[in-house]
Amino acid sequence: LENGLARTPQMGWNTWNSFACDMNETVVLQAAEKIVSLGFKDLGYHYVVMDDCWSAGRNSSGYLIPDPDKFPNGVADLADKIHDMGLKLGIYSSAGTLTCARYAGSLGYEEKDAALWASWGIDYLKYDNCYNQGEEGTPKLSYDRYNTMGKALNATGRPILYSLCNWGVDGPWNFAPTIGNSWRMSGDLINVWDRENVNCPCSETEGLDCKTPGYQCSVMNVLNKAVYYASKPYAGAWNDLDMLEVGNGGLTDTEAVAHFSLWAALKSPLLMTNVMTTIDAPTLSILQNTAVLAVSQDPESSSAVRIWRYYVDGGQIQMYSGSLSGGDQLVLLLNGGSTARKMNATLTDIFWGDGAEGTASEIQSSWDVYDLWADRMSNATANAIIEGGNATRPINMTALGGYEKVYAQ
Ligand code: GLA
Repeated sequence: LENGLARTPQMGWNTWNSFACDMNETVVLQAAEKIVSLGFKDLGYHYVVMDDCWSAGRNSSGYLIPDPDKFPNGVADLADKIHDMGLKLGIYSSAGTLTCARYAGSLGYEEKDAALWASWGIDYLKYDNCYNQGEEGTPKLSYDRYNTMGKALNATGRPILYSLCNWGVDGPWNFAPTIGNSWRMSGDLINVWDRENVNCPCSETEGLDCKTPGYQCSVMNVLNKAVYYASKPYAGAWNDLDMLEVGNGGLTDTEAVAHFSLWAALKSPLLMTNVMTTIDAPTLSILQNTAVLAVSQDPESSSAVRIWRYYVDGGQIQMYSGSLSGGDQLVLLLNGGSTARKMNATLTDIFWGDGAEGTASEIQSSWDVYDLWADRMSNATANAIIEGGNATRPINMTALGGYEKVYAQ
């Protein structure tokens, strides 16, 4: 969406995964304070988003009321405090009569709600898809519901990042880029690395029923639904793989490294959801890897694309590649299997990109290789050189989530 926002995938923190409906002003402010004091703000994590359960219905004029128990000082006051910290405040609603947790939805109230949020100083809207009265199933109807809110936000004159959350229903990657800054493309990501793909529909390829909210997807489920072509720089429009589960206890540290690396390489928004007041050292180290964040926030790069995947014992191995600014190239090798293994990425693979074979000069050049996790969690070999020609260079992966950047020489 050409509203000047999300020129790179948005970064921040959201209440939902850790607090669900136990969210309130204190939860939001405590997280915001930690985002500043722990250095997240300086790395670009700017949006603090209040998810579902913040309201207490509408007043007699039809305006939403913040729950007075959860937000005794109101949301405008909270926005002031968040802004004073140098951060931005996000809010949540649904393009339906109710939100997913059955609070008041915005269908039919778009202009009132957008105007109210703008008057409070809201900077970000996450807009869900629950209780949409059956107004889905054709892309036109989904487009209309989401476009109505987009126009209402725009009419306020306040820059409000618009994050669509319709779980891939009706192919948002086709209609959302012109009306929103990001769109979800799967059911909810839960705190699980991999599992049978039985309850995670809504993919482009599977075309399964998407109408019931509450679908739950593992990291690998979501990954296998990613729609690479949709996320492009300059458009302010990103394919949303859902909020991060780093630091929420369900993933090992190496799985969290892989999860974070993949979300950055695929240019997903990076919304943390861990409890900031009890964050541990590995979680901090993963979420603050500046080399990986530089890939996510590279102003010129599109989503990396999957070049290959194979099924192995206990999971899949996959390779992704994508171009970065300055002629550099991103290579990501994922070992989702149950044992350590050596994986090869040929220069022909690396420069296959978007289905087109690499140019001869790319394949025949020499490349410096830099491991973005070398000083962090992975045991991958750092700083090697790929020689020209079509040679293969073994990249030793003894941990999940190897992640390498190839520098032009
Ligand atoms: C849906 C969304 C989640 C969250 C909940 C809140 O499931 O996909 O991200 O916002 O609703 O009820």
